Amino acid sequence: MHTVVRVEAGDANLAVQVAGTGAPLLLVHGFPLDRSMWRNQLEGIGGWTCIAPDLRGAGESTVPRDGYSMARYADDLVLVLDAMGAGTAVCCGLSMGGYILFELLRRHPTRVRALILSDTKAEPDTPEGKRGRDDLAQVARREGSGAVADRLLPKLVGRSTAAREPAIVAAVRDMAVRSPVDGVVGALGAMRDRPDSTPLLGQIRVPSLVLVGAEDEITPPAIGRGMADRISGARYLEVAGAGHMAPLERPGVVTPAISEFLGGLG
Ligand code: MLT
Repeated sequence: MHTVVRVEAGDANLAVQVAGTGAPLLLVHGFPLDRSMWRNQLEGIGGWTCIAPDLRGAGESTVPRDGYSMARYADDLVLVLDAMGAGTAVCCGLSMGGYILFELLRRHPTRVRALILSDTKAEPDTPEGKRGRDDLAQVARREGSGAVADRLLPKLVGRSTAAREPAIVAAVRDMAVRSPVDGVVGALGAMRDRPDSTPLLGQIRVPSLVLVGAEDEITPPAIGRGMADRISGARYLEVAGAGHMAPLERPGVVTPAISEFLGGLG
């Protein structure tokens, strides 16, 4: 059964989808997306309480005009876990969701039981990347989220999915188009200013799974493999035929892989 609960988080009110029963599994979406990107995992992972929040400024959560940062997003996740009565959770994040989990590990390490890092990276933005964030924020302010969606969509979805799965392409586009402009601009600033998480990788002591779409152009497999190599004991999975949205593009591979990893946690 799926429920949507509302969680107060200071100047925001978060929509959080909850499905299943069992130990907590927190699913953190990427940019410019919302919790619906986890639809297959919410349906398909049994024996766990799947907790999928819309981040502040995304989906059905409210949209503060400013004050976005990785620290704020991470603190929001703690409020979500508190509201669910979850002391710790297996934490799974895609792309920006992964950036937020690195911040959660720095700020609240005791809340993370295990990590699943999907199509993400520990490196900060390059100077060129930071300029790109500011340019995209201007596009969002000037032309709206549709224009942002048009620019990002070709890189969000892998070429195999783009060729064969129009419904998935449309679902990703819809998420991006309905992203509120203030939330988009806030997330771009938070990503631009995020710290370098590479020094953290060697300190991670929880069981970890790194997965990446073989056709991911934003965080390509070489980046995912390099990250897995630096996390002690991490497992690595490359998902054939998937791009940056591997959990949505190839749920038939990703959901069982997550379930198997969860099953091994004991
Ligand atoms: C995401 O999917 O969250 C974004 O592509 C991350 C990024 O732009 O760095």
